[in-house]
Amino acid sequence: MKKKAFLATLAAGAMVVSLAACSSGGSDGGEGAGDGGLVGVAMPTKSSERWINDGNAVKEQLEAEGFTVDLQYAEDDIPMQVSQIENMITKGAEALIVASIDGTTLTSVLQDAADADIPVIAYDRLIRDTENVNYYASFDNFKVGQQQAWSLLNGLGLTDLEGAPLADAPAGPFNIEIFAGSPDDNNATFFFDGAMDALQPLIDSGVLVVGSGQTDFEQVATLRWDGEEAQSRLENILTSTYSDGTVINGVLSPYDGISRGIISALEGAGYSVGDAWPAISGQDAELDSVKAIVAGEQYATIFKDTRQLASVAVDMTIALLNDEEPEVNNTTDYDNGVKVVDSYLLDSAIVVNENITEQLVDSGYWTQAEIDG
Ligand code: BGC
Repeated sequence: MKKKAFLATLAAGAMVVSLAACSSGGSDGGEGAGDGGLVGVAMPTKSSERWINDGNAVKEQLEAEGFTVDLQYAEDDIPMQVSQIENMITKGAEALIVASIDGTTLTSVLQDAADADIPVIAYDRLIRDTENVNYYASFDNFKVGQQQAWSLLNGLGLTDLEGAPLADAPAGPFNIEIFAGSPDDNNATFFFDGAMDALQPLIDSGVLVVGSGQTDFEQVATLRWDGEEAQSRLENILTSTYSDGTVINGVLSPYDGISRGIISALEGAGYSVGDAWPAISGQDAELDSVKAIVAGEQYATIFKDTRQLASVAVDMTIALLNDEEPEVNNTTDYDNGVKVVDSYLLDSAIVVNENITEQLVDSGYWTQAEIDG
């Protein structure tokens, strides 16, 4: 009822808003048949498949609710993202859904949003250093990091997929290397902390050996989640640490694009899929990486259903525009430096070769034909 009431009250003003949206010529915006207001959706980059899926899902779901959507991608260019959000405010956006590139760089533009009474939802990545972010929609990011580590440990035969030690686990030691995500993305430290929570005790006991000795976040972080940067870091490590014939048994990777860089570095150093091929983790269930799991190149990925995340962000938007409180399930963990941002965190799932059908095909995320293709 309330949502309908909101849409009805918007009807009078909708013409102004949709005219503004239509004249914008925004690359992906303006063509929705919305009789609701304009919602600005800022996504970081099209270079990663997951953000394309996120953007499409948010746009479709908002349009189904009668909104007009201005969906923009900033190609990992921070000033471009700031100016895209500025444009959304100028065009009369009623609300903003923002997946930031660098979570610390939006303070000024979000002050403009607040001055115009535009609510802001941080989408998947927490926006830091501002009070002008209303809610946060994401996954349990510490748990995602744990799942990445558990999948790596499972690939080494040490634990099950919930991190419980296996009775017949080998004694090791196993040589591993560790990669983390972009230091300007709040999620990267959550993933790293979750993963190290599972790995550190085994490093301390000598079951795992980090050959390079690089275990600090600053040493293992990968700016902008760049797969090529990860590839060259591993190439350097393979030369400096493993050229005496020591074999690398596992690599903690926080993202499928980084995993692909890791696979390239290993192939370049003469590794080939088979017994001595290391276990490699990932994240996002990107199609190429699902195929890599089938091919035995990557051991696992983490499935985070972008359709569900879009649905949470859309529900939050509708609630805020109706002056209602969005549903949240975490009010303690996401301190952005100025305040703790109330959050709704979704569950994620580990995908290995054995459960691809159950997790990804049965849920309709990918078809079998796409995976086989
Ligand atoms: C997201 C991950 C993604 C990474 C790189 C993170 O903020 O939570 O799902 O792999 O960005 O795009």
